[in-house]
Amino acid sequence: MCGITGYLGGREACPILIDGLRQLEYRGYDSAGIALVNECGELHVYKEKGKVQDLEAGLAGKNISGHLGIAHTRWATHGEPSAVNAHPHVSSSGRFAIVHNGIIENYAVIRRNLEKKGYAFKSSTDTEVLVQLIDYVASCSDSDTVAVLQEVLDEIVGAYAIALIDMKYPDRLFAARKSSPLAVGIGDDEFIVASDISPIAGNADKVMYLGDEEIAEMHRDGSLHIVNLSNAECRHEILAVPKNLGRTRKDGFDHFMLKEIFEQPSSLTDCMRGRVDVVGKTVTLSAVREHKDRLLAAERFIIVACGTSWHAGLIGKQMIENFCRIPAETVYASEFRYSNPVIRSSDVVIAISQSGETADTLAAVELARSKGAFIYGICNAVGSSIPRATDTGSYIHVGPEIGVASTKAFTGQVTVLAMLALDIAREKNTIDDRTYAGMIEELASIPEKMRVVLRTNDSIASLAKMFTYAKNFIYLGRGYSYPAALEGALKLKEISYIHAEGYPAAEMKHGPIALIDEEMPVVIIATHNALYEKILSNVQEIKARKGRVIAIVSEGDTAISDIADTVIEIPETIECLDPLLVSVPLQLLAYHIAVCKGKDVDRPRNLAKSVTVE
Ligand code: AGP
Ligand code: GLU
Repeated sequence: MCGITGYLGGREACPILIDGLRQLEYRGYDSAGIALVNECGELHVYKEKGKVQDLEAGLAGKNISGHLGIAHTRWATHGEPSAVNAHPHVSSSGRFAIVHNGIIENYAVIRRNLEKKGYAFKSSTDTEVLVQLIDYVASCSDSDTVAVLQEVLDEIVGAYAIALIDMKYPDRLFAARKSSPLAVGIGDDEFIVASDISPIAGNADKVMYLGDEEIAEMHRDGSLHIVNLSNAECRHEILAVPKNLGRTRKDGFDHFMLKEIFEQPSSLTDCMRGRVDVVGKTVTLSAVREHKDRLLAAERFIIVACGTSWHAGLIGKQMIENFCRIPAETVYASEFRYSNPVIRSSDVVIAISQSGETADTLAAVELARSKGAFIYGICNAVGSSIPRATDTGSYIHVGPEIGVASTKAFTGQVTVLAMLALDIAREKNTIDDRTYAGMIEELASIPEKMRVVLRTNDSIASLAKMFTYAKNFIYLGRGYSYPAALEGALKLKEISYIHAEGYPAAEMKHGPIALIDEEMPVVIIATHNALYEKILSNVQEIKARKGRVIAIVSEGDTAISDIADTVIEIPETIECLDPLLVSVPLQLLAYHIAVCKGKDVDRPRNLAKSVTVE
């Protein structure tokens, strides 16, 4: 996935576009580029391998004037990260320049056909094929640019958000989308298009979102014309750009990830604000109030998500089944969409996504919707694609998450799932008063308990130094802590590049125990809960084989502390809320190991913050 942006108006385009790319870098950062049309009608294209700051450095001393431009920050799908494969791509004739987010699935056949017609390609990308096809179709007739785009976009298979410059019309900017998001910011006789609203905020007050298979033609005189591929005119609600988008800062922390780990007590307070009432002893989600009948009638919940959000979904499944007594399953969105799933109109599908833009999750939502299921979104990014595609939902309200490794979004998702399960259970009468009241009290105390857990930061930083040698790690947990173990392992993999596996602790003896020797660190979640005695036996099994045990235990624990190599103590809580506290030391451990190894914690290799391609 990539971030795209474009500018047309009275101001210098370059600083606006570079600033926009910085905001979009969460979408990809393996290369970046910019194309600018200056007042003499010349097109200048600059591209660099690396991050936006590398592109910026490369622009020093170059001709960067112009009031029309497009720019891109890339996460490669076709062709390695390199300056040649970076966008913008320019057609052979020099007439068109394009930036693209998405995948052109039938690019190979189109490329072969164009090569036969004499087109030569510089890059290995699918995007260059798209711009060459536009060039070819334009060269075959006198059609205007929009008509050319209609013909070309009708022919291609795949997903795209594009911004296009046509040098025949240096006072116009063109944009189009299908399946990848595109926002159009509207200012005073100026336009900023972007993959999300962040480059628009601060530059324009109004925004609208292009629909699927729509093309926008923007003019320097301030006029905007939108049509679909069948040439029908399209109108969209024009929205005010939210005033409080705020720019993100590290606030004195070395990395966004560390800042976001430390923000969790306050982000969870925000998440529960107006929803958890400790005095009145109620949990209320407005979406549950508004769609009570539909939710209570659900015969099954299907949770779809990817990565960390999927781990939160595994916890949500257990909560829904335990408290609401409704069957629930959690499925990878990428598997769900191609598995010909049985979806009934009585099902409720919960889509969990921090970004609200994950392509697989969005596709799963669309599939479930087409089968008549009711769709509930749990997202963080307000106004993103998934909340717009669902019937209802609850935002997690944890604020922007910039670190690629998700931290506060995970705990926000688990908190919303707990509130959802409690609210539905109360309405269904499947929870007794004592358990309900106890859960509310405990939920409200989590931020304070998290503050206590965060005090382990320094000792975890020292602990981390001892494990930079490790090539492998195993994470174990049972029940609600099993998904927390999976999440701990994912954090370590993502940012330290150490191979790590999460397992249900009792599964060890069915195979993975063969991996244990004195070199193997095993992180085991062993807090006081119903399965404590069982976990104790699992720790014995590992120690008997000389594994190095790092145990997360409840305050005051002695049994496990006696046999583990290292223990990290955390406050006790109700079993289903354990993942909220347990995940903090796991996040810190992964963070400090990655720092000790000198890795780029906020922007790990090969990853991007949101995966908007399949
Ligand atoms: C989390 O640390 C990962 N970077 C990744 O697994 C992420 O959770 C996944 O891509 C889903 O993203 P979403 O929540 O924005 O849909
Ligand atoms: N397919 C294009 C490329 O590899 C765009 C990638 C994307 O949007 O992720 O350059």
